Amino acid sequence: MRKQIVAGNWKMNKTFTEAEKLISDIADALDDINTGSTGVILCPPSLYLEMATDVAYESNFEVGAQNIYPADSGAFTGEISPLMLKDLGVPYCITGHSERRKYFGESNEFLRLKVDALIKHGIRPIFCCGEVLVERETGSHFDVVKKQLEESLFHLPAVEFLQIVIAYEPVWAIGTGVNATSDQAQEMHAYIRGLIGTKYGATIAEETTILYGGSCNGTNARELFAMPDVDGGLIGGASLKADEFLRIATSF
Ligand code: PGA
Repeated sequence: MRKQIVAGNWKMNKTFTEAEKLISDIADALDDINTGSTGVILCPPSLYLEMATDVAYESNFEVGAQNIYPADSGAFTGEISPLMLKDLGVPYCITGHSERRKYFGESNEFLRLKVDALIKHGIRPIFCCGEVLVERETGSHFDVVKKQLEESLFHLPAVEFLQIVIAYEPVWAIGTGVNATSDQAQEMHAYIRGLIGTKYGATIAEETTILYGGSCNGTNARELFAMPDVDGGLIGGASLKADEFLRIATSF
């Protein structure tokens, strides 16, 4: 049975004091509410990862980073390495988010290096893929996503591919308030699972967690998560409020 996950991508939000409060509010609530078999992951800014891992150690959530540079160490001013994450006990890292592709010019080839660097240290990439609006409107969204997966992930041997969590995030839905419909999400998730099946076989395809991201919130999560190939969500804006995020985490 593949793992259901609700992950919060905080992006570049919250002061340290605010982050501590949000994490402790979520941790306290997770002591009392039942999220069933759903794994909860919080991805705060890098600066707060140590604090987050300290709290996570005694709580029912795990921690993810938002980014790494694909080297263990070296002259890469401002960057953090997967070795540093491993040392802190951070088990996940978002990779390939559309904001990094757009604002930091991250290509499929570069993301492949990041994926390799993370896997080398046993950190599970939450690998984001998805099309921009014009690609959907012109009907090339399946090809775009296929290329992203092929160029950044499909070089992995099966045993390493099993470490990947995929997040389908149509770029036109991110931060816009316009989520993909549950049918649109299901269609793409099933397509992605089919690609994985063709490459790695049906068993691995069935085991791969595929999250939906893009304006997912406490109101629409239940309908999205009810789709057979939607295994949870990568949540941006709605992960910044404890109540809303927990509503999503209990939407299965
Ligand atoms: P959003 O962001 O939920 O604010 O649309 C999702 C994401 O960027 O991961």
